[in-house]
Amino acid sequence: MSELTTPMPKLRMYIDGEWVAPASREYFETVDPFTARPWALVPRGNAEDADRAVRAADRAFREGPWATMHPTVRGKLLYRLGALMEEHADELADLEVRDNGRLLAEMQHQIRYIPNWFYYYAGLADKIEGAVYPCDKPALSFSQPEPLGVCVGIVPWNAPLLLMTFKLAPALAAGNTVVLKPAEHTSATALKAMELVEKAGFPKGVVNVVTGFGPEIGEPLVTHRLVRHIGFTGSTRTGAHLYSLAARDVKRVSLELGGKSPNIVFADAELDNAVRGVVGGIFGATGQTCIAGSRLLVQDRVHDAFVDKLAAFSRQVRVGDPRHPQTQLGPIANRMQYDKIVGYIDVADKEGAHRVLGGGRPPGEECSEGFFIEPTIYTAVNNDMRIAREEVFGPVLSVIPFHDEDEAVGIANDSDFGLAAGVWTGDMRRALLLSRRLQAGSVWINTYRDISYTTPFGGYKMSGIGRENGLEGIREYLQTKAVWLSTAREIANPFVIG
Ligand code: NAI
Ligand code: MG
Repeated sequence: MSELTTPMPKLRMYIDGEWVAPASREYFETVDPFTARPWALVPRGNAEDADRAVRAADRAFREGPWATMHPTVRGKLLYRLGALMEEHADELADLEVRDNGRLLAEMQHQIRYIPNWFYYYAGLADKIEGAVYPCDKPALSFSQPEPLGVCVGIVPWNAPLLLMTFKLAPALAAGNTVVLKPAEHTSATALKAMELVEKAGFPKGVVNVVTGFGPEIGEPLVTHRLVRHIGFTGSTRTGAHLYSLAARDVKRVSLELGGKSPNIVFADAELDNAVRGVVGGIFGATGQTCIAGSRLLVQDRVHDAFVDKLAAFSRQVRVGDPRHPQTQLGPIANRMQYDKIVGYIDVADKEGAHRVLGGGRPPGEECSEGFFIEPTIYTAVNNDMRIAREEVFGPVLSVIPFHDEDEAVGIANDSDFGLAAGVWTGDMRRALLLSRRLQAGSVWINTYRDISYTTPFGGYKMSGIGRENGLEGIREYLQTKAVWLSTAREIANPFVIG
């Protein structure tokens, strides 16, 4: 019992360039999902800490070197931060796995990919241009895009560093300052990243990280009068709540919320490849992604054959220690989420869906302590069942048969969500037509779960507002100022305008 003898590390928040304890002096435990044991103590931030961080960010925005820094120099800082992340990728990956149980192999890959966001937006920082307008008045009218001010980023626990980066890189490139609040379950990597922010040479107060629970520190951030933008990734329920809070003082929001994404397999698809894509879509990251392809729509002609192939493949998935290089499915990231998924398995059973695979804890010593759930597949699912309508956020797949294109589109779009969709077919005419008809922010054809710093990402319907990544991503963090410079000698009539 080493934790009885070795005290757990106590993390500190990063505010105004200082490593600080929370105003409350209270801490809570963060848990390693593989062992289900706590491994570190996280500062329990409150409104006082939120206020300190926002004021620091506001000062850094208005005064000091950041306020007057040329965008090229901002870009250089971002580039340096990306390079430092690349240098420290192994360390960050290790920490991420310890805190959220994602596969080490995947995190090593992901954290080596993350620096591209910093490089991309570093290059973009000095290419944000305004326009000169063909003005119909005796004036020169032109615009310049400007940053918003203090931006708050609230991120979840499934991909902490990646989702933090989606917000941080464009917000900084645009010239804003940032206060980040990682999820209470996974605060370690965001704090670790602040060591790199410091090392890269960002002026104090430009980036701050506070930790704690949503209602205790998240809400005070969202309602703080000096904050101008809320970037949130997480559940639709919390997102909608934050949207209403932000509306009170007309703050801008970008929301990246839940999904119930359809992955549609036609009989003419390369079926073995589709099996791999479907598996990656729902069992990758143990199903804990907003883009999980949690509804599998299969054309009736190949339904049984496809389900057999899928079940055979999924039965072979190696579940266990996320650090083991052969592991394909790790634990659920936290107990709350584990309980929620177990609850949905019960719901699906009671709704009369037919469980063809999984549903329980995987056998064996390796999976005896952590938050493990087997890859789980249900057939005979009807799109009206809760298991087809609500986000489970776990390795639970619902299979729904369809007859033709029209029926597939009908079922796919019959959802409150619209984050993503997959289409598996050998017919490019069909693929293109479906890409137009599907109500989703991303449509993947013969692939699934691809994301890139170059390509906009976000949701239709209740899956969100705004877009992250690519050129569109930076617009969320800018506002346009129009400037009028008169060329008239005098104001002819002050009472007639137009
Ligand atoms: P959540 O949406 O409540 O939490 C996400 C972030 O929001 C965390 O940092 C949390 O501390 C913060 N937060 C929560 N309540 C807040 C409040 N009142 N004010 C300000 N910040 C607040 O998600 P949670 O509870 O971790 O997971 C619940 C469900 O959400 C999951 O079962 C899953 O279905 C879904 N989810 C979806 C994600 C996605 O990427 N679409 C990511 C994580 C969870
Ligand atoms: Mg944890």
